[in-house]
Amino acid sequence: MKVVCVGDCGVDHYLPSGERRFGGITANFARHARNEFRADDEIQIVSCIGDDDGANLVRAALAATDIDCHISTIPGTTPTQYIEIEAGGERNFVRYDAGVLSSFEFSQEQRDIIAGSGLLVAPVYLQIVDLFSELLSIETSGLTAIDFADFLQHPDFALLEHSIDKVDIGFFGLTVDDAATAERIASLAARHDKLFVITLGANGSRAFHGAREVQCDSVPVREVVDTTGAGDAFAAGFLSRYCHGADVETSLRHGAQLAATVVAKLGS
Ligand SMILES: Nc1ncnc2c1ncn2[C@@H]1O[C@H](COP(=O)(O)OP(=O)(O)O)[C@@H](O)[C@H]1O
Ligand SMILES: [Mg+2]
Repeated sequence: MKVVCVGDCGVDHYLPSGERRFGGITANFARHARNEFRADDEIQIVSCIGDDDGANLVRAALAATDIDCHISTIPGTTPTQYIEIEAGGERNFVRYDAGVLSSFEFSQEQRDIIAGSGLLVAPVYLQIVDLFSELLSIETSGLTAIDFADFLQHPDFALLEHSIDKVDIGFFGLTVDDAATAERIASLAARHDKLFVITLGANGSRAFHGAREVQCDSVPVREVVDTTGAGDAFAAGFLSRYCHGADVETSLRHGAQLAATVVAKLGS
C-alpha cells in the first residue's frame, strides 16, 4: 500500500526553554506510520519547508528514516509550532507560524504522487484551507483520512460538510465537555456513512462508523510528560491496523497504545 502523507513538517519550539524539535502533524504521522504499517507499505511525504535553520532540522530528521520525501524548499520560514507544557504534561499550543506552508502549491510530480495513493492522510486547519481544497481536487482511487486538527477551537462544520464526499475517515481532537460537537460529528457520520473518530485525551476515543458507535479507553500512563503529538500517533496506530483489515475496536485500541507511549516522553 502507498501511504501518502500531505501537510506540515516543521519545528516544535518549546517555551520557555527555547528547545526546538522536529515536529508537525504530517511529519509525526509519517514517522509513526513508518513503524506501524507493514515493511512493504510505502510511506511518502509531500510537503514544503523554508530555507532557515528549521529546514535543516527537518531534513536531518527525515534523512534518518525510511520515508520517501517529496518536500519542496521555498524561501521563508519552516512551519513552527510554539508549545508550552502545563503542570501534568498537557501541551498548550501558544502560537503557530505556518510559514511557507501557507502559500505552498503542489508541483506536478507531487500531484502525481498524491493521485497514486492507496491511503491519503492530511491535516486541515485554518492556515492551510487553500492547500486542503487543492488536495481534495486531486482524484485518488484509495482512502482519504483527514485530521480536522483545529476543530476544538474552530468547529468548522461548513468545511467538513463541503468536503465530506471526498473524506472517508475523519479524526477530531475534542474534549469531553464538547458533547454538542461530538453529537454533530456522530450524526454526519451516520447520514453520510463515514468513519469519524473523536479523541478525548485521557478520556479515550469514540468512533462513529455509520450509525454504529465504538468507544475505547485511553491506556493509563504513570507520568504524562508531554501530550504533543498524541493525536498524530493515535491516527497512525489506528490506520495501520484498520487499513489492513482490523476492526474498529482493535484499531482504536492500537491507536491508544501507541499514543500512550508518546505522552509518556518529551516530544512528539
Ligand atoms: N493524558 C493522557 N493519558 C493517556 N493517553 C492519552 C493522554 N492524552 C492523550 N492520550 C491518548 O492519545 C489520544 C489522542 O489524544 P488527544 O489529546 O485526544 O489528541 P490531540 O493530540 O489531537 O490533542 C487519546 O485518545 C488517548 O488515547
Ligand atoms: Mg490532546
